[in-house]
Amino acid sequence: MPPAWNELLDHVLIDAETLQRRIKELGEAISRDYAGTENLMLVGILKGSVLFMSDLMRQITVPHSIDFMDITSYGVGVRESTGDVRVLMDLHSSIKDRHVLIVEDIIDSGRTLEQVMRLLEARQPASLKICTLLDKAERREVPIELAYTGFVIEDKFVFGYGLDLDEYYRNLPFIGVIDPAAVIEAS
Ligand code: IMP
Ligand code: MG
Repeated sequence: MPPAWNELLDHVLIDAETLQRRIKELGEAISRDYAGTENLMLVGILKGSVLFMSDLMRQITVPHSIDFMDITSYGVGVRESTGDVRVLMDLHSSIKDRHVLIVEDIIDSGRTLEQVMRLLEARQPASLKICTLLDKAERREVPIELAYTGFVIEDKFVFGYGLDLDEYYRNLPFIGVIDPAAVIEAS
């Protein structure tokens, strides 16, 4: 059994109410910017974006479809990405001539998204933009243009609201910072 979340939590970084308030703002901005757009499609990157996607789409008034893609990075430690991306599950639908908005949980080095952008751009969407809930801006190694950002956060390992620690705790309604001492004890 994994430890209870409160045993790993150092502090709550973004509480549930603050998350929902910001997601509403993002949804309003997206609805304004894409007003009148046909063929809007939200593409969630599994699995971290699942909670964000489900809340964000309910705040978007422009008709849209959704699809998901599961990707992983090669030859990495659990918490670092090389950006050598492998597609585990591809989109079910074509994005050609569609307006695609990628929905991501967190951008760290930017390497994963850089590869995803390259991959999807080759399929000739009408437009391709990124909406990320969290941005660890100071960790960026490759430039990534973000159309929508929920929160810029400091370089600490976070969990909850879709983000996992060894696959657990995605269900928490808030974003928490892990107590490094507790993680070492637990592993
Ligand atoms: P990047 O390629 O370095 O930008 O890695 C982004 C991916 O790393 C995200 O999609 C997450 O899956 C993961 N990640 C980065 N930072 C964290 C974190 O603090 N908590 C949980 N997952 C993270
Ligand atoms: Mg992810």
